[in-house]
Amino acid sequence: MRGLAGKRVLVSGGSSGIGAATARRFLQEGSRVVIGGLDPGEVDRTVAELAPLGEVSGLAGDVSSETGVDRLVGGAVAALGGLDVLVNNAGTAWREPFLDITAEHWDKIISVNLRGMFLVAQAVARRLVAQGGGGVILNMSSTNGIGGEADYAHYNASKGGVLLLTRTMAVELGRHGIRVNALCPGYIRTPLNSAIAAGLGEEFVSAYEREHIPLGRAGLAEEVAAGYAFLASDDAAFVHGTELVIDGGQLAVM
Ligand SMILES: NC(=O)c1ccc[n+]([C@@H]2O[C@H](COP(=O)([O-])OP(=O)(O)OC[C@H]3O[C@@H](n4cnc5c(N)ncnc54)[C@H](O)[C@@H]3O)[C@@H](O)[C@H]2O)c1
Repeated sequence: MRGLAGKRVLVSGGSSGIGAATARRFLQEGSRVVIGGLDPGEVDRTVAELAPLGEVSGLAGDVSSETGVDRLVGGAVAALGGLDVLVNNAGTAWREPFLDITAEHWDKIISVNLRGMFLVAQAVARRLVAQGGGGVILNMSSTNGIGGEADYAHYNASKGGVLLLTRTMAVELGRHGIRVNALCPGYIRTPLNSAIAAGLGEEFVSAYEREHIPLGRAGLAEEVAAGYAFLASDDAAFVHGTELVIDGGQLAVM
């Protein structure tokens, strides 16, 4: 991918699943990477796994807290001497029927997936502007930000919010030379989804994949990482304020 070698990249939620695969991909492209994550042990383990590939370090903290975000973004800037790319990827999800969602659960999902996304994006954008402009911000949405999958009202609302946050950031930050886009993956096999799938049973999950996904399978974290790498690269120099759907055709189904 053109233009990623030497880039200074922060991957929030980089200690697991899609984020860890994305950190790996950027390292393979020659970028210098800092990963974030909630669990310090998981951050350390992932950094140790990735270390043979290049320059990578990690910072644990909660993206829904302003202190956690200050430490994450300040620490990444200190480690890398500035920033060029934010992969704003941290997120959480669980199934819950709309009629059962408590205000506490609603707040939890929105605070990680939408407030956290805003806090990290704003802290990095301020830094990019202070550096003189330029750079790339990629926000993680989902096909659930476009269609209303049952039992995910709080998650769907958070991911729909990310799409409009992304478009508004693109409108305001374009004049600083900062490109902003979102990703909308469909069903991807990661620890997050494996936990949900374990509750539903393997038979339910393979029937779901056959019936709802035209390519007939779940996506791989590496296939989403490739989307992040493309959007961060010079090959996407005129791609701005939009979203890339990576879903095996799921949204094309009537
Ligand atoms: N797996 C899918 O099918 C799928 C589909 C569409 C979108 N997504 C989105 O992709 C992103 C990554 O998901 P994944 O499937 O790789 O999950 P995962 O559970 O494997 O990884 C989630 C990452 O986010 C971090 N994280 C969670 N809560 C955090 C918090 N409060 N503060 C800081 N970090 C936190 C975790 O530490 C971890 O590094 C999420 O935003 C998710 O909503 C996933």
